[in-house]
Amino acid sequence: MGKLNELTKEEWAEYNKTVWNCTSRNGYFASFDKEIPKRLIKYFTHQEDTILDPFVGSGTTLIAAQELNRNAYGIDCSIKAIDFMKKSVLKHGMDNNARIKVVHGDVKNMAIKDESVDFIITSPPYFDIVHYSNEKAQIGNISGYEKFIENMIVAFGECYRVLKRGKYACVVTGDIRKAHEYYPIHVDYITQLKKIGFRLHQIIVNISQTSGFGKREGCMGYPTNFHPWMIHEYILIFQKN
Ligand SMILES: C[S@@+](CC[C@H](N)C(=O)[O-])C[C@H]1O[C@@H](n2cnc3c(N)ncnc32)[C@H](O)[C@@H]1O
Repeated sequence: MGKLNELTKEEWAEYNKTVWNCTSRNGYFASFDKEIPKRLIKYFTHQEDTILDPFVGSGTTLIAAQELNRNAYGIDCSIKAIDFMKKSVLKHGMDNNARIKVVHGDVKNMAIKDESVDFIITSPPYFDIVHYSNEKAQIGNISGYEKFIENMIVAFGECYRVLKRGKYACVVTGDIRKAHEYYPIHVDYITQLKKIGFRLHQIIVNISQTSGFGKREGCMGYPTNFHPWMIHEYILIFQKN
């Protein structure tokens, strides 16, 4: 069996934990810390592999891929996100062979060949709690939860189609509470991805927010209700058999 990765012993020891603390943000709505794609790319890929982020947003995954000399595609349906990346990611050019491509498109219909991608890392919209853009394809504007999940099933089906057999896909997400309803997004994603054919490989919990407690204190129901402030998100790791 080939080596899974080129991690050093120190990196292996650090990444090989089920709770991470990656809290940085870059100012784009619901972006993730670059450390997340960086660790996962190092864990699951080799140099010159091709990585895909089909909900690429501000391009955090692309910057991580470029720094690690991996080729990467980023897709987003928001022209604002594409403009953001043109200013940041594409100007970030590096002295290595990584080929980085930003595509304005819809995850539900990707112009990518079947079984051509080595690794997927992505963070889809958190239901409709963030307004990203007004394009028709924008999944973050779907207000019914069932409809939202139906769209995500199509998106994950596309991810399954383009990923090579035996390779990994990571989905970063969090549950949300809206109008007194709790939406266990990570549970629904696991159920749906398994139906599509993925095998659940691992769940990592990332502590994504560690400060600002004081600002949110009034929203948590004290002393009449119990609504903890969610400070964690899930990194769901799947394998295509
Ligand atoms: C949570 S954000 C991703 C943030 C990203 N991880 C970062 O660090 O910047 C989700 C992104 O999905 C995009 N999106 C929503 N619907 C989409 C669709 N149908 N196809 C492609 N991208 C879509 C949104 O425009 C938004 O930029």
